[in-house]
Amino acid sequence: MAVARKRDPVRVRPETAATPREKSYVQNERHTRQVTTMSLENRTCLVTGASKGIGCGIAEDLGANGAEVIVNYRSSEAAAHDTAENIEAAGGDAIVAQADVSEMDEVRGMYEKATDAFGRIDVLVNNAGITVDKKFDNMTREDWDRVIDVNLGGVFNCTKTCFEDIRQAHEGRLINISSVVGQQGNYGQANYATTKSGLFGFTRTLALELANDGSTANCVAPGFVRTEMLESVPERVKEGILERIPLDRFAEVEDVVSMVSFIAQEQSSYMTGQILGINGGMEW
Ligand SMILES: NC(=O)c1ccc[n+]([C@@H]2O[C@H](COP(=O)([O-])OP(=O)(O)OC[C@H]3O[C@@H](n4cnc5c(N)ncnc54)[C@H](OP(=O)(O)O)[C@@H]3O)[C@@H](O)[C@H]2O)c1
Repeated sequence: MAVARKRDPVRVRPETAATPREKSYVQNERHTRQVTTMSLENRTCLVTGASKGIGCGIAEDLGANGAEVIVNYRSSEAAAHDTAENIEAAGGDAIVAQADVSEMDEVRGMYEKATDAFGRIDVLVNNAGITVDKKFDNMTREDWDRVIDVNLGGVFNCTKTCFEDIRQAHEGRLINISSVVGQQGNYGQANYATTKSGLFGFTRTLALELANDGSTANCVAPGFVRTEMLESVPERVKEGILERIPLDRFAEVEDVVSMVSFIAQEQSSYMTGQILGINGGMEW
């Protein structure tokens, strides 16, 4: 593993410096706002659930764009190390951090490890998520709670822990991975769909609360993506889903990751509180 560069974790805005609002006003006046780089160099990105699937793809793409990446996982340790090694093989910096996002103590431990290595978090990608699918008839309170605890509780824990960093960062980013299921609902997924809709209200509220500091919050809502999560869906159900996708294919991880890297960069600085559907044209 590459040795991470340690940086000063505390960045204080000088008393005399313009606020982000003032700065952008001046820049708008002169029509000179220019973003000179596509790079995420010197940006530290924490991606939850980055051992596999969409999170792994996001972490690798952020790394390929120059970011320092914290690869979080819960149980797939070897896969998480593979993600980090791929980032380093492409010339990036990455560390692996185990934490169950539904456990606040573990999230705090992950944050300490991340900030020891990189100083701060500029971008948080709340990607970790699970399904426990059952018709509502058969869904128990435990099935409900498990999904809420990870998909919403985990988002609370990670955002709460990183909030001050994101707020103080130059153009900090909160990026929440939702789903088209949060927009449409889905048979057998009352618990999951509730968590994914919940992220819409959360994102829009955090966008308001971060705006004064020039940081943003956005939500990416993928359609059905070919990962282990989709593999667990029965074949006949998948055929039914495919019929509802105008582009007539499931998404690949690559279809989602470049949107996240775009949001993480300065080019997206005037976009906040948005829900970005990447779903092959599914209606909602
Ligand atoms: N696949 C789809 O069709 C689809 C569509 C729309 C949205 N999404 C959303 O995209 C996100 C990623 O989905 P995916 O398809 O990539 O899923 P996946 O292949 O099942 O991977 C899930 C990832 O989340 C991690 N994770 C699960 N519970 C965790 C916890 N408590 N703490 C920390 N990490 C945890 C897993 O880590 P370990 O293996 O290490 O436990 C794994 O890295 C989810 O939020 C999902 O809801 C997926």
